[in-house]
Amino acid sequence: MLDETMRNRLAREAMQNREKAYVPYSGFAVGAALLAKSGKIYGGANIENAAFGPTNCAERTAFFSAVFAGEREFEAIAVAGGKTGEPVSDFCAPCGVCRQVMREFCGPDFEILLAGPGSVKRYTLSELLPESFGPDDLR
Ligand code: THU
Repeated sequence: MLDETMRNRLAREAMQNREKAYVPYSGFAVGAALLAKSGKIYGGANIENAAFGPTNCAERTAFFSAVFAGEREFEAIAVAGGKTGEPVSDFCAPCGVCRQVMREFCGPDFEILLAGPGSVKRYTLSELLPESFGPDDLR
């Protein structure tokens, strides 16, 4: 399921989903594309707020809409971010809060794809969130 064609598709969709970002404060548009084990892809973009704190990142928008749709298992997420209205000029890595949200639903081998200008960097969740705290710690 997670071959190069699918990775490229997720990267492309993350780029496209940047167009749906609501970013009047930062002007930094982030898009995400999340592949569930069901095979469905869920999109997300960042949604900012005048009070700043309630801002929701692109990755969490994608996760929360997938979980609300009934998904609980995931394969990979692609993320792309940069100045609104411009193509991305660098890689955009998920913030710490989003990594912890991924940890709730994903195993250590969950793939995180950073879609940059002309190439895609690939990490696993355990690489980006080592020695983490998760649901199993409360069992
Ligand atoms: N942001 C994301 O949506 N995802 C990330 O991985 C990093 C940061 C958003 C939050 C805020 O709307 C803007 O980027 C600037 O921090």
